[in-house]
Amino acid sequence: MRRPLVAGNWKMHGSRQSVDALLNGLVEQEWPEGVELMIAPPALYIDRCVGRLQGSPLSVGGQTCATQAEPGALTGEISPAQLRDAGCGYVLVGHSERRTLFGESDAVVCKKFAAALACGLRPVLCVGESQAERDAGQTADVVARQLQVILDAFGVGGLAEGVVAYEPVWAIGTGLTASPEQAQDVHAMIRARLAMLDDAQAQDVRIVYGGSVKADNAEALFSMPDIDGGLIGGASLNAEEFGAIARAAGRV
Ligand code: 13P
Repeated sequence: MRRPLVAGNWKMHGSRQSVDALLNGLVEQEWPEGVELMIAPPALYIDRCVGRLQGSPLSVGGQTCATQAEPGALTGEISPAQLRDAGCGYVLVGHSERRTLFGESDAVVCKKFAAALACGLRPVLCVGESQAERDAGQTADVVARQLQVILDAFGVGGLAEGVVAYEPVWAIGTGLTASPEQAQDVHAMIRARLAMLDDAQAQDVRIVYGGSVKADNAEALFSMPDIDGGLIGGASLNAEEFGAIARAAGRV
């Protein structure tokens, strides 16, 4: 059985004051059994989050990391080893905002994935097509290409050590959620592709959905057989809403 993961990506939101208020709200939530929980705050607030969430079921992750684990002259970068040292267990790699706004190629994403694994962080590999790609019928090809670099380097076992997040770009921050069926189709396609390489390991890979997940659509999405939780953006900035989404994962 795959243990669902519900993760919050705070993106570039928050101040010391609002982060403290959100953390206070989070520690008061009732968290479901059997669901893994994680938040990825801006790096600046990781330490604060790790400290405040001690003893809670929520772990902390990074939103991105450098392409190398070793220290170096890389002004502004944060290495996966430093994230680990700060108390993180996960790091997002290849989020569509990193790919489109910061020009991260599949090769760069793969280096980050490798660097994260090398220091014991679980990478959350984000994949997904744009609206134009979906309209052109290229969803399967785009997602397959984004997965392939990782599969070439690490096989299905590498993905099983991390998590795959299917985040259709057109559903991110737009309020346009993929329907449970649309999301399930792509999740099933991803798992089938992995199963062609290694069926047993493919059944262990967690594939979470991201893109306008809210408390009122979470349960329908999480009920789908190949959707193993969610990566939540905007709704993770509200403790009550994030709690409700996590509880939805606990009910399915
Ligand atoms: P929204 O939930 O705000 O659409 O963001 C999804 C996302 O990008 C999570 O990484």
